[in-house]
Amino acid sequence: MTLAVIGCGNLGTAVLAGLMASQQNPQNQLSGTGQCGLRPIIRSVACVQSPARGQQIAEQFGENVGGSACPVEIAVADNAEGVRRADVIILACPPNQVNEVLAAPGMREALAGKLLISMLGGVSVAAMESAMYANSEREVPGLEPCHILRAISNIAAARKKSLTIIGERSASMPNATLNLGKDVLGQIGDIIEVRTDQMPAATALCASGTAFFALFLEAAIDGAVALGIDRSEAVHMAAHTMAGAAELTLFGDDPAEIRAKVTTPGGSTARGLGVMEEGGVKEAIVRALQATASVHKS
Ligand SMILES: NC(=O)c1ccc[n+]([C@@H]2O[C@H](COP(=O)([O-])OP(=O)(O)OC[C@H]3O[C@@H](n4cnc5c(N)ncnc54)[C@H](OP(=O)(O)O)[C@@H]3O)[C@@H](O)[C@H]2O)c1
Repeated sequence: MTLAVIGCGNLGTAVLAGLMASQQNPQNQLSGTGQCGLRPIIRSVACVQSPARGQQIAEQFGENVGGSACPVEIAVADNAEGVRRADVIILACPPNQVNEVLAAPGMREALAGKLLISMLGGVSVAAMESAMYANSEREVPGLEPCHILRAISNIAAARKKSLTIIGERSASMPNATLNLGKDVLGQIGDIIEVRTDQMPAATALCASGTAFFALFLEAAIDGAVALGIDRSEAVHMAAHTMAGAAELTLFGDDPAEIRAKVTTPGGSTARGLGVMEEGGVKEAIVRALQATASVHKS
């Protein structure tokens, strides 16, 4: 299978890095949750806007970099050409570029019958179809429709630790195409299906959430450094402790119970949690999610 990525920025390169790393260890591909079996990516195409960016991507992902079994080709300033070479396309450009990308000459033909996985926050399938069919009839004899799947990964995809939300899709999408999308996305972490109306909240939690949890880490690291711990050790301690709390939660412990298990009434943890309560940390996190989700509601 050949994969193209349109929009090789923070998210696009993280997804590419994770997918390429998966190809190095075929065992990892077994995490794919679709039902169509293993689909190795034998080639990728990075669609970039300028030769300079192409050079950077080639240096990061070029053939033999990190022993990759999946060479990355570069398509410069011609997204449709990159798409023509691919079977599956990941769209990770800024949302405001959707019309420019999908209405480009030759794009509709290049995408015909293929799976387009859109990671654009807040852009509906209808909006993408309108962009794609803006300059022509919706149904062209002999031209298969493009199958659009909305999915939102996060930048932990680079370490195959994304949580990818799978949401809205084209009405006509065959099951085999949906499973193909799940197979691809399952290679960069876990996947979870949500209803279309849940996409804004899930995007806030799983995509922007990476930044929110990182802010907590930043503060914890700064606090530890102020107390005399070396920064590199503080980074390790904070990240590992957060991963530990996350692991316990993933294996079934309720976060409130975890908190209770660590907190002796009147003890040192209770004193710290009291400070957080005074600062309105919990409420602020809830409001941050609401504010973020509201941007994605259309
Ligand atoms: N970052 C995240 O954690 C995250 C998580 C979930 C979803 N998303 C979604 O992913 C998308 C990208 O986010 P990002 O944070 O990765 O942004 P970003 O770092 O700014 O990357 C966007 C990339 O798109 C490229 N681009 C812009 N216009 C293009 C065009 N017409 N054709 C081809 N490529 C084009 C840019 O190229 P240049 O560098 O040449 O300008 C840039 O490399 C957004 O829609 C966002 O909603 C992001």
